[in-house]
Amino acid sequence: MDTPSELNEVVLPQPVVGPLTRSAIFLVLCIRQDEDAYTRIRAFCADLSGLIRAVEFRNIEAGLTCIAGFGSDAWDRLFGSPRPAELHPFKEIRSAGRHAVSTPGDILFHIRAKTMDLCFELATQIMASIGNVVSVADEVHGFRYFDDRDVLGFVDGTENPRGDSAREAAIVGVEDPAFSGGSYVIVQKYLHDMAAWNALPTETQENIIGRRKLSDVELSDTDKPTYAHNALTNIEENGRQLQILRDNMPFGRPGHGEFGTYFIGYCRTPRVTETMLENMFIGNPPGNYDRLLDVSHPATGSLFFVPTATFLDSVTTTRPGASERAEASSSEPPSPAPPAAPAAADDASLRIGSLKGESNE
Ligand code: HEM
Repeated sequence: MDTPSELNEVVLPQPVVGPLTRSAIFLVLCIRQDEDAYTRIRAFCADLSGLIRAVEFRNIEAGLTCIAGFGSDAWDRLFGSPRPAELHPFKEIRSAGRHAVSTPGDILFHIRAKTMDLCFELATQIMASIGNVVSVADEVHGFRYFDDRDVLGFVDGTENPRGDSAREAAIVGVEDPAFSGGSYVIVQKYLHDMAAWNALPTETQENIIGRRKLSDVELSDTDKPTYAHNALTNIEENGRQLQILRDNMPFGRPGHGEFGTYFIGYCRTPRVTETMLENMFIGNPPGNYDRLLDVSHPATGSLFFVPTATFLDSVTTTRPGASERAEASSSEPPSPAPPAAPAAADDASLRIGSLKGESNE
């Protein structure tokens, strides 16, 4: 049997590679820009797994999961150095009137369950805990639509990698040892012009998506236009397909004429998703863009890093300090660090990376 110290060395990822669920809440928050707020969020990080367990246990069959991701600036202020090798703000793309916007977001919560009540309860508990130190940038409640279709009427998710392939696509490995087990996630909230979409003949819609609408069968290579969505998002490198793990969700408010798809894509490197976006917005070759964008536009766009659950459990409220940074730059999972020296009033350096139980405040 493992000894406690051996158990401590097991790095547990957050449940990125989870089953698709019937319900989800996507909550994007901005942290108030003061040290009290960051301290509060650090304390919350260590408490999050307990909070999830408390809500999950109320209906264990509903399979509640929650993933927390952190934006580039927030990472520096909360956890400092080392930082995930490829973490950066979402890069906007502009091309011929098409615009992949970059919008603010410090923390993403991706909450999933078979039923909305659990998602709703966890989101409520999260906001009860940190609501006074954050503002809400975006909140979307997604639902699974008929046959896993998006509101455009096409089955969405068919070619998602599964099992080992999903892990291979989504989870950081040896390329960034300090952050292996983590993941990069890009989210975009797309709003559709349903009148324009519905005015298109079904065959035109099928050419845009690259699959048959009713049967979900992929168009043959001879029938599929080069601008089809599933052609432009099919990325190959050295003859190998580079994949992302998606869990898109329909959302909307018919009474307000709002119909959308919340795009969420996890990947072990943001470069794959970014290449897909370039192909969609600029085109491949340039000009051969994704016709979905004629009827649909993203209202948001943000990039986050999802650290391991082990990392989150280890966060303390202590401001990050130089001594802790040196400790944390080890390629091993976080281990107890010596207490940091108190920050001098005029010391503007970020003090991060200390571990649970090591607070010297
Ligand atoms: C308006 C927003 C979007 C809608 C409605 C949408 C819908 C779809 C649909 C219906 C499919 C075909 C079924 C499937 O394999 O899942 C698909 C495939 C795919 N989508 Fe999207 N999508 C959207 C945005 C995006 C974005 C922003 C990306 C990446 C940046 C993306 C990446 C992919 C990938 C990788 C595939 C699989 C391609 C393949 O067959 O290999 N999608 N999407």
